[in-house]
Amino acid sequence: METTLSILTEWDETHTQNFQKEIMTFKHGLAETGLFTDEALITLLEKHPSHLLDVNSMGDADHPEYPNKFRTGDFRDIPGKVLLDAAKAGRVFINVRRAMNVHPEYKDVLDKMYGGIAEKTGKKAYTPNGSILISSPISQTPYHFDKTEVILWHIRGAKRIVLYPRTQKFIPDQAYESAVTNLIDDDLPYDKSFDTEATIVDLEPGQALTWPLNSPHRVDNSAFCVSVTTEYSTRESGMKNAAMVTNATLRNKFGMDVSYEKDGKAKRQVKSVFGRVLKKAGIAHKTVTKDMVTFTIDPKDPGFVVDVEPFERNF
Ligand SMILES: [Fe+2]
Repeated sequence: METTLSILTEWDETHTQNFQKEIMTFKHGLAETGLFTDEALITLLEKHPSHLLDVNSMGDADHPEYPNKFRTGDFRDIPGKVLLDAAKAGRVFINVRRAMNVHPEYKDVLDKMYGGIAEKTGKKAYTPNGSILISSPISQTPYHFDKTEVILWHIRGAKRIVLYPRTQKFIPDQAYESAVTNLIDDDLPYDKSFDTEATIVDLEPGQALTWPLNSPHRVDNSAFCVSVTTEYSTRESGMKNAAMVTNATLRNKFGMDVSYEKDGKAKRQVKSVFGRVLKKAGIAHKTVTKDMVTFTIDPKDPGFVVDVEPFERNF
C-alpha cells in the first residue's frame, strides 16, 4: 500500500464544523487499500483470532425457536471462503472485531483514518477500535444506540441507516442505564411510529457516516455489504457512561428515581466519579446474559445456517 494514500478524500471546513455535532457523511478511499476485496477478507478471516470473531444470524420470522432473534454461530474449522459465501447467501453477518487494530496492515490504515481526522479537525486523536462488518443482503441491525463515538465507513454494497433524535422518547435513561451495566444486550425499545421523526441516510460505497454521540439508529442492508466501524471514547462519553452506572445502581439497588437529563453539571460530575469507583469495586448493578451458540455454518444448507444443540460460547 502506498504511504501517501489519503483516506479522507473530500473533507472540507463544513465537515470540521459538523463533526460529532450533526448527522454527517464524508468520502473515504478505503476500497483503494485493497484490504477489503473477497481475497483479502478470506485471508483475514483465516488468521483472525477466534475470540475476536463473531458469526451471527437473525432467525427468520417463522423459525420455531428463534423467530427474529439475534443468534450466535459456531465457525470453528470453517474455511474463510465458506464464511464469506455464507454472508453473501443469506442471513449471516460477520463481525471481525478489532481487525483494524490487530493486524499491522489494517492498523496502518486505521492510523491514517484517525490521523487524517485529527489533522483536519485539530482534535486530539483518540485511540479507536476498528472492526470490519461483513453482512448479508438481508441483514438488519435493530434499533439501538452506541455508548461511544462511532464512525461507519461503508466500503461495498448498499445500506440504509435510520437515525433518531436523542430525547427521552427515543432513548430513555432507564434503557441507557441497563445498556451500561449489561455486557451483551444493547437493544432499545422501538416503535414503528418513531420513524416519522427519523433521518434516513442511504450509504454508498466510499461514504462514511457519523452522528451525535448516542443517537439511536437502525440499519437495513439491501445488498451484500462490507464496512468498517470505528469507535472511540471521549471525555464526554466516558463521563456520561460512568454517571449512568451510578444512576443504574441508585435506581436498581436503592429504588431511587434518577434522571441524567435533570442532573446539573456538578451532579453529573460527582456521579461520574462515583460510577468509576463502583465499577472498580465491582459493586455496580450488573445484569449477566449468557452468550449461547445455536447454529453452525454448513455450505450444504442453502442459507448456510444449521441449528445445533445450544451451548454456551467457549471459543
Ligand atoms: Fe450502532
